[in-house]
Amino acid sequence: MTRTVLSYGTFDLFHVGHLRLIERLAAMGDRLIVGVSTDEFNAGKGKRSVVSYDDRAAIVGAIKGVDLVIPERSWDQKRADIVEHGVDVFVMGDDWSGKFDDLADVCEVTYLPRTSGVSTTEIKDLLRTLDPQHLEEMQAALGTLTRLLEHYRDLT
Ligand code: CTP
Repeated sequence: MTRTVLSYGTFDLFHVGHLRLIERLAAMGDRLIVGVSTDEFNAGKGKRSVVSYDDRAAIVGAIKGVDLVIPERSWDQKRADIVEHGVDVFVMGDDWSGKFDDLADVCEVTYLPRTSGVSTTEIKDLLRTLDPQHLEEMQAALGTLTRLLEHYRDLT
């Protein structure tokens, strides 16, 4: 019998944590469905992804082991998706631990540990520090600090 696995995520700036998660999801069954959050759904959560829904869905859909990508448009579609697609296991990263246990009456619910040391938020933060304006600010701050140090050195 086919074992169908379902998971959801934004998958913005696709990174190795996403890849490792998908590899583990694919190993849990025979058919893997991934819900990718739409730009409108993210906007409702106050989040804005760098990569558009169409591109994120195309990237996730091209990863080995992913059989179907569906749009995630709302918080409460999960139960209907599970029933519609005959899902056996619903899996999320453990940053969501316990949050979807109410779905346990329609399928298995499992949480997987995140890959340590990588997240979209961290990548975005890193990119911000490389922003030219930020670099100028850092240079200015460094100049001020150097002048202050010279001033105190002259006093001693
Ligand atoms: N994930 C993971 N390991 C990571 C990052 C993400 O296993 N290092 C999993 C999450 O637990 C989730 C899925 O990948 O099940 C999609 O995560 P998403 O929120 O899109 O990625 P993050 O990098 O966690 O993004 P953010 O920093 O914006 O939360």
